[in-house]
Amino acid sequence: MAPSSSLRFLSPAQVNFFQENGFLVLEKLISAEACDRLSRRAAELIAQKKDEFDKAVFSTRDQEKTSNDWFLESGDKIRLFMEEEKNPNTTRHRVNKIGHAMHDLDPEFAAFSRQAPLADIAHDIGLQDPVLMQSMYIFKQPFIGGEVRVHQDSTFLFTEPLSCVGFWIAIQDATVENGCLFALPGGQKEPLRERFQRDEKGGTALVKLEASPLPETGYVPLEAPRGTLVLLHGNLPHFSEANRSGVPREAYAVHVVERSADYPASNWLQRGNELALRGFA
Ligand code: FE2
Repeated sequence: MAPSSSLRFLSPAQVNFFQENGFLVLEKLISAEACDRLSRRAAELIAQKKDEFDKAVFSTRDQEKTSNDWFLESGDKIRLFMEEEKNPNTTRHRVNKIGHAMHDLDPEFAAFSRQAPLADIAHDIGLQDPVLMQSMYIFKQPFIGGEVRVHQDSTFLFTEPLSCVGFWIAIQDATVENGCLFALPGGQKEPLRERFQRDEKGGTALVKLEASPLPETGYVPLEAPRGTLVLLHGNLPHFSEANRSGVPREAYAVHVVERSADYPASNWLQRGNELALRGFA
């Protein structure tokens, strides 16, 4: 990804920071009203899909196959995914996230995902013709919001050449206490370690590309007040801890890849031909 020569939104220093560090934190990018609207829409989707709570986790027969299929078929749908833990402290629902195509299927999410200045920012960091491949509304529930172990996003959205970039938006304040992102500055220069793909025998497999593990130290917290955009290079190692606080940490992430890059049929995330990939326009 070479930065564009004619910048539309970012300053040269911001582009340079992203190129050097693999992430960029832009506070106050999205209005509080827009964040609240998306949070309300997410709550509505959950209310509409309450019957999915059982399908998503509680199946007693063929649990693994059921949850695998639920996940693998979600690339062109809006589905709920549940936390493993129950919440003894509140009556709040235990949805872990909504995924993975709200940005194309739900008008409110579609508009949020394409609001100014996201297209200009994508242009400024050197993306040529990005398509919005995946969306996730992540709840990180109070007390039970699970940890996400260190990973590189290109593991899950592999292209040749590599082109994945994450647009992660804090819908509520993300702090060290409630499970904000941690990232490794400069870690985007690390080679991609693993590919998460469909297994020929069914289900999924994590395939090693490099024997050495990702670095374990040097990560910095990316605290993000509501309305902050965090850009994440697809090779950047990052993680988030469990939320043991009583404060929710809702976030919305859209991942883009270059339209011109090869997107293998073995990638876990697939969508049917009837749902065309769209860019920011
Ligand atoms: Fe990630």
